[in-house]
Amino acid sequence: MGNTASRSPALPASQGVYKLESLGGGIEQARTNGKSVWGTFDADSLPSFLSNNPLPNGYPWSRMNSTTNYYEQTPNTGVIRSYDFTISRGILAPDGYEREVLLINGAFPAPLIEANWGDTIQVTVHNHITHPEEGASLHWHGLLQKGTPWQDGVPGVTQCPIAPGESFTYQFLADMYGTSWYHSHYSGQYSGGLFGPMVIHGPQSQEYDVDIGPVLLSDWYHDDYFSLVEQTMAANSTPVVADSNLINGKMNFNCSSIAHKDATPCVSDAGISKFKFRRGKTHLLRLVNSGAQGLQRFSIDGHKMTVIANDFVPVEPYDTKVVTLGIGQRSDVLVKADGDLEAYWMRANVSRICGRNHNPDAVAAIYYDDAKEDEEPKSVASDVPDPGSCANDDLDLTRPLMKMELPEPDLIIDMEVRLFTNGSGVKLWSLDGVSFRGNYNSPTLLLSNLGNLTFDEEWNVRIIQGAKSVRVHLINNTTVPHPMHLHGFNMYILAEGEGEWDGRINHPENPQRRDVFQVRRHGHLVMQFDAAENPGVWPFHCHIAWHASAGFFIQFLTGHEVVETMRIPNVVAETCRQWAKWTHTNIPAQIDSGL
Ligand code: C2O
Repeated sequence: MGNTASRSPALPASQGVYKLESLGGGIEQARTNGKSVWGTFDADSLPSFLSNNPLPNGYPWSRMNSTTNYYEQTPNTGVIRSYDFTISRGILAPDGYEREVLLINGAFPAPLIEANWGDTIQVTVHNHITHPEEGASLHWHGLLQKGTPWQDGVPGVTQCPIAPGESFTYQFLADMYGTSWYHSHYSGQYSGGLFGPMVIHGPQSQEYDVDIGPVLLSDWYHDDYFSLVEQTMAANSTPVVADSNLINGKMNFNCSSIAHKDATPCVSDAGISKFKFRRGKTHLLRLVNSGAQGLQRFSIDGHKMTVIANDFVPVEPYDTKVVTLGIGQRSDVLVKADGDLEAYWMRANVSRICGRNHNPDAVAAIYYDDAKEDEEPKSVASDVPDPGSCANDDLDLTRPLMKMELPEPDLIIDMEVRLFTNGSGVKLWSLDGVSFRGNYNSPTLLLSNLGNLTFDEEWNVRIIQGAKSVRVHLINNTTVPHPMHLHGFNMYILAEGEGEWDGRINHPENPQRRDVFQVRRHGHLVMQFDAAENPGVWPFHCHIAWHASAGFFIQFLTGHEVVETMRIPNVVAETCRQWAKWTHTNIPAQIDSGL
């Protein structure tokens, strides 16, 4: 998130052979990642679908295939995938530096949610966060939640936070397929570790041999999330800078690079993630930027990658040496193990210009079958460009496989992004003229369900009346690029670029669609969504944790007449009563927007 003018340096990692201090193993997995086995040889590859269920015509989703319009048709397998999640605090050292981490079932990253397209996912969440206690919620990033907007997991918008000591059971349809993640939507909690991967198996659009599973890329901080939110919300604040970068929750950190003023335990060879490739075979890697702030450039030495999906949208395959991922974005890539060496470096580099990180370069080791797994790869980095535009791949490259023509919009909204300093010297973001601040006790969805459509201005609710398809022309009047995320829909991406929009629409016969898209600094993003398809309350926000905390958030209320008739399960209101009871004797420290 620097504000240097556009330039296109190559990342320093491209200068010769990369040498780690050591491959790691200085501390055992239990101390770096608790119960998580991601990034170790204990992590299993994934099947092409779960088969402990009926398989009509050979597949869980029967005759539906990769040309099925997944917005209109979702299989209903009748299968429920149940998970029982306990959230707690624990002390771990993912990069060797010990800190408090928010865990699910003792694991960082949190456990995989895996289902077939059309399954019902059921997750019971127990909030065991103590010392101090705080609320929590989980959001299932990218799922549409059609007909179940109260399951979207956004405090102050679709639910009250789950109070300390209480539980809540989410239940929703796996209505899209592909790769995603879930994360807390309560303040900056997810930057403190509260996130995990989500894989929904669906029709395969391309052939491959091995599904490597999720590859989570996340910038990482040595301070707990609350201190970082405090830093963000302080008068005359300085920007938050990440301390390291992790692949599947692991990376080495050079402990001698920091002064040991607080004597925090730190080990320099904590250990990196390792993956297995089978020579000659094609591997599917499910890349997710699950970080808080930095844009990632992902590459594998000596290998090209074929992108087959962006977010939950399979695309016509295209080849690249580097995959760019803003926060919240995913790409499914195919990689053929056709190298001459036996081991290669996988690299996730936080962009020098589109991220702030003291140690931006993460590596993981890839071993072919015949490799010695205790030796470092000797591969040399490809030339990975890091353009200062911080843009996503060219819209010409990214054509959805399931084609959809852009409908005519019935409503066009121009909205501006601004950064300003309030009366107390706090730097805040505004979207469409308002800096958002939510009220945990009065979720917009529950109010709308009761027919109450008067909202506080700072909740930044935009009621969409009657429009079928809404075009949003976003103007970023700041020196910082942003990953813009819309809940409940895939956005049609009509245009993006620097300066003003020239009015041209990229491939209106089949524009790119996805749920997060980068807007450039002093640039524009023109997107459209079919509002009428999904009545509910749907956030549109910057997915940089510190920007959402500082107000960069709006909510669209769609189809409010339908919302009024929705029969929201009683447990949702009960969660609010539990929250009200807890807050009666405890004051939640909501120092930010709440989200
Ligand atoms: Cu990843 Cu508002 O979400």
